[in-house]
Amino acid sequence: MAAQLRSGLSLITGILCCTLCSADFSCRNEAGEPVDWFIIYKLPRYKVGEVGSGVDYMYLDSSVGRWRMSPFMVNTSQGALANTLNQLYKGQVYKSNSSVYALYNDAPPVLKYLEGYGHTKGVLLFDRSQGFWLSHSIPRFPSFPERGFLYPSSGKVNGQTALCVTYQYEQFLHVAKQLLYIYPRFYNCSVPAVLSADLPQLAQLCAGSRPQPTSDRSVEQLFSAEGEKFVSFVKSEHFVDDIYAGWVAQALGADLLVESWQRQGQDLPSNCSLPKHTMNIKRIQLPGSALFQSHYDHSKWCVSRAYEDQVACLGDLNRERPQLWRGGGLVCSFNPSIYKAFRQAVDWYIGC
Ligand SMILES: *[C@@H]1O[C@H](CO)[C@@H](O)[C@H](O)[C@H]1NC(C)=O
Ligand SMILES: *[C@@H]1O[C@H](CO)[C@@H](O)[C@H](O)[C@H]1NC(C)=O
Ligand SMILES: *[C@@H]1O[C@H](CO)[C@@H](O)[C@H](O)[C@H]1NC(C)=O
Ligand SMILES: *[C@@H]1O[C@H](CO)[C@@H](O)[C@H](O)[C@H]1NC(C)=O
Repeated sequence: MAAQLRSGLSLITGILCCTLCSADFSCRNEAGEPVDWFIIYKLPRYKVGEVGSGVDYMYLDSSVGRWRMSPFMVNTSQGALANTLNQLYKGQVYKSNSSVYALYNDAPPVLKYLEGYGHTKGVLLFDRSQGFWLSHSIPRFPSFPERGFLYPSSGKVNGQTALCVTYQYEQFLHVAKQLLYIYPRFYNCSVPAVLSADLPQLAQLCAGSRPQPTSDRSVEQLFSAEGEKFVSFVKSEHFVDDIYAGWVAQALGADLLVESWQRQGQDLPSNCSLPKHTMNIKRIQLPGSALFQSHYDHSKWCVSRAYEDQVACLGDLNRERPQLWRGGGLVCSFNPSIYKAFRQAVDWYIGC
């Protein structure tokens, strides 16, 4: 399984490789230019020995290669997150009958929290050519399209992460299938008639119904517009287990260090019962003296402990007991700069 997930890259890169065109929907970098993928790590307000603004963030993308402190604040209309989402907000693209979009969050803006949906947050925007999938950890984000880009105050105190990947159209057929397992709460979306035949499950989710997946979990390889391989792991609420220890560590064949939001009394301890171990990160150190406790970090990510395994994943679920019964997933990457950025950020973890 692990070897299978790692192979197959070189073949596909040759076919898919193309340069990003600025007319297409795509992830946008800090300057507003198309980019294959980017990651942001919004820093928590409370760092060790320091109180920050709660809106500063580190940025990494396919061309930058290492964390950089962003010159922008995450709650303004500048920066990668706003540049990317403004493709939906500006010019009322959300009214277009040729593009699909979905805003989903278990904790949507304004609306009441409802149980029963997957614990997942993100945005899709694409047309028959291309688009992006942004997955993130920020509650009550992003805003309804009519309101334009807004960053909620609920997303300021704690650390948060976001991963954006640019995909060509065909990949969204796989993404849609994966979302089915998670059962995201689509709080605003549109799947125009011309595209709904290709994307029946997405159209159903958008219409508020729930198509039933055929099993309790699924793994799918996704290739970005520039041919970078990502692997999506998703589970439904019927797979009642910790996604990290009970599945992904074993499937990847790697000991994992996991950073997630853990409330006292509900947290799952570091676990070395199964062949591959899963251990909780307690303190994070990003470059430029940003040192903080996991307690102030709402993001969800993991890395292989061993540098040889070189895998990093960002996702939806926390290592908390109630989350065993929730749908959610992880997007994993074998990219060396993503791995290094996260592995080197592990300052302290609890072994077992
Ligand atoms: C962004 O957040 C900072 C810190 O909370 C605040 O001072 C600033 O006014 C906010 N800016 C916008 C545009 O909301
Ligand atoms: C889509 O919108 C355009 C103009 O915005 C319109 O001309 C066209 O008829 C619409 N197509 C469908 C299938 O509704
Ligand atoms: C969400 O989506 C559609 C446009 O796709 C819009 O007409 C609708 O009013 C939106 N807002 C809310 C609050 O549902
Ligand atoms: C470790 O994790 C596995 C999979 O979630 C679980 O079955 C096992 O009970 C856990 N071990 C301990 C000691 O908690």
